[in-house]
Parts: sequence; structure tokens; C-alpha cells
Amino acid sequence: MKDFKKGLEGIIALETEISYIDGVKGILEYRGYRIEQLAKLSFVSIIHLLLHGKLPTIREHDQFSNMLKERRELDVHTKEVIHFYNFNIEAMDALMTAISHLSHSDPDLNSNSHEENISKAIRLIAKAPTAVAYFQRIHEDKEIIKPNELLPHSSNFLYMLRGEIPTVLEAKILNVDFILSAEHELNASTFAVRVTASTLSDIHSAIISGIGTLKGVLHGGARLAVMNMLDEIGDPKKTEKYVMNLIKNKQRIMGFGHRVYKVVDPRADIFRDLAKKLAEEKKDMKWYEMATKIEEVVTRELVEKQGKTIYMNVDFYSGVIYKYLDIPPKLATAIFALGRITGWLAHALEQYKDNRLIRPRAKYIGDHHTPE
Ligand SMILES: CC(C)(COP(=O)(O)OP(=O)(O)OC[C@H]1O[C@@H](n2cnc3c(N)ncnc32)[C@H](O)[C@@H]1OP(=O)(O)O)[C@@H](O)C(=O)NCCC(=O)NCCS
Repeated sequence: MKDFKKGLEGIIALETEISYIDGVKGILEYRGYRIEQLAKLSFVSIIHLLLHGKLPTIREHDQFSNMLKERRELDVHTKEVIHFYNFNIEAMDALMTAISHLSHSDPDLNSNSHEENISKAIRLIAKAPTAVAYFQRIHEDKEIIKPNELLPHSSNFLYMLRGEIPTVLEAKILNVDFILSAEHELNASTFAVRVTASTLSDIHSAIISGIGTLKGVLHGGARLAVMNMLDEIGDPKKTEKYVMNLIKNKQRIMGFGHRVYKVVDPRADIFRDLAKKLAEEKKDMKWYEMATKIEEVVTRELVEKQGKTIYMNVDFYSGVIYKYLDIPPKLATAIFALGRITGWLAHALEQYKDNRLIRPRAKYIGDHHTPE
């Protein structure tokens, strides 16, 4: 049997036209467009780009946006399930349960054709934010707020969550958050989605695999860990000591390090600028100051002194942004999923298009008890 790489590190497992990463130059592209360009567009354009392979014209954009708006509301059974499961359940688990239920109410339940899967994908992208917002409102013992058709995708989500229309900057920032979270090549959750799709299981099941995988703290769960770390530090003046302690005890600093990037994650730079703008709008620099201090200490201690390539990743400043947006920490990973669901769907569609069952081998290192 050939050699293996623990964690499949550096292994090319499949071909894709969806995204490209250069981890040394710090480049990320969706369908050939740099992330810095894409961050200036609407999330609806990115959904169109990822699902259909091209940016929409103005007319296509409006039609696509309306299609999403019309599909936001949940069916009565899925709403009941969210009510029923609300006690003592994590938002990511609730999202998996809601999506499992949405599959039963989907009009194209029994078809796995490309056209029908596109329709399912659009419904999933439209409905997932509603499921998360309803979950949170019910959990807080508040009235649910129905989707507002006048608001774009990201503003509507914040509106359903908080009950008030977000400021222009808040809406813009969540739009960017969804865009930057939407896709990232063959990360662990996308791989899980493709493995499930490769068995020709349905697209809802593939997305549930993705959600379960994103939950982990080494993946999407890091955003919540960053928020918890900021809370634990509590005061910018305590930051240096806190981070030095983590380093001394060889603990990981959440929001830093990456399997592919050996430089700063290009998404993190965009988030840093937005976090600063949001801090200024809120007239509260506390979280931003803490974050820049953490970055300074990690760079000085781990990069400059120890020569490691541990730079901030996408989860670091997005965790800071969620603090300013007053996102309940337990929703952090679920909101990441609301962006990433688009990339997962694009990958499931790509997998179905030219499928081969994903079934690698394992190197057996146990004993053999049968004599030869
Ligand atoms: C993302 C991550 C899992 C990638 O890890 P990986 O490619 O498997 O890298 P390794 O775990 O082999 O780490 C390589 C070295 O860097 C160190 N390292 C990696 N991430 C670190 C971090 N966040 N803080 C401190 N040290 C870190 C490891 O301790 C290891 O050091 P060693 O060689 O002295 O043992 C890892 O960087 C991590 O745990 N980061 C924190 C969680 C996070 O932010 N996840 C979101 C990713 S987008």
C-alpha cells in the first residue's frame, strides 16, 4: 500500500472549478475572481456565481434576489420542530434538525436531477437563515419575526434575529461575512459534503454532513472560541498576559493557524478593516483593541521568535465583528454555516455532475491473528 498523509495533508483529492487557494501568496478566488473584488458585491451575486458559475447581470440579480426572498418562510412542520427541539439544544444541532425536516417538505424530495437540485439549493439558502433566527427568538422566549421581503438577504437575517432593521454598516458587514464564509475549497466540512454526495445521497443529507463537520472547534467552531476568549480576557490591559500564558502552556490561540495558508488569510485582512469601522461606529474600541493586541503578541512570540507560520485566519476578526453585532455566542458557528451553505451546495452539485464514489483506503496497523 502507498504511503499515507495523516489528516490527508497536502493530498489532492479531486478537481474543482469552484475555488482556488494559493496558501503561500495568500490568494483566494471563487470561480476565478479574487475575494477582495467579490467582497464588494452583494451576497446574492456570490450565490449566483457559486451555483451557476457566473456573476449575474443586473436583471438576473434582481430575479434571483426575488426568488430567494419568496422562499424564506418555513413550512408549518419545520417551525413546529424548531419549537419542539428548542430546549437545551445547540443552534447547529437545531439547524441540522430543521434541514432534515425541510427535506421532507421539499417539493422535489424524490428527485436528484441537476435542475431540481438547483431549486432545492435556492430554497435551502433562503430558508436556513429563517430557521436560525426563529430558533434564537424562540429560545429567548420572544415572538418570531417573519422575513421582510423589502430587505436583502443579510439585513433580513439581522432583522429577524433582533427585531430591528440594522444600520447600513451592520448590514454591509454581515453581507461581507456571508461572502467570505461562503466557500473555501476542500476544507473539512466541504469534503464531508462531497463524500456524502458521492454516494448519491440527497443534497439535504450532504448539507447536514457539512453542518456536523463545521461544528468542531478546529473548524467553524473557532469563531465561537474567539468570542469566548475575548470575553474571558475582558479588558484590553489583560490581553498580553493572557496570550503569553496560552503560549507558555503550549495552548492554541483560537483564530490563528491554518492548514493551507502559510501567510495571513486574505479574508482576515478584510475582516480586520471592517471590525475597526464597526468599533468606530459603536464608539467602543474595546474588542478591537484586544484583538489587535492578541495579533501583535502572537506575531511577536510565535512568528518572529519561534519562526512558526501561525497567522490569523478567517475566524479571528469575524469573532470580533460578532461581538460588535451583539450576536449571541452560541449562534456564531450557525451564522458561519449560513454563509458556507452556498459553497457546500455548489460542491454537492459539482460532485453529482461528474460523480465517482469517494472511497479512500486505510493503512492497517493492527495485528493479524490468523496464521498464514
Ligand atoms: C487550523 C489548525 C487546526 C491547522 O492545524 P494543522 O495544519 O493541523 O497544524 P498543526 O496542528 O500540525 O500545527 C503546527 C504547529 O503550529 C502550532 N499551532 C497551530 N495552530 C496554532 C494556534 N492557533 N496557536 C498556537 N499554536 C498553533 C502547533 O502547536 C504546531 O506546533 P509544533 O510543530 O511545535 O507542534 C490549527 O492551526 C488550529 O488548531 N488553529 C486554531 C483553531 C482555528 O482557529 N481554527 C480555524 C481554522 S480556519
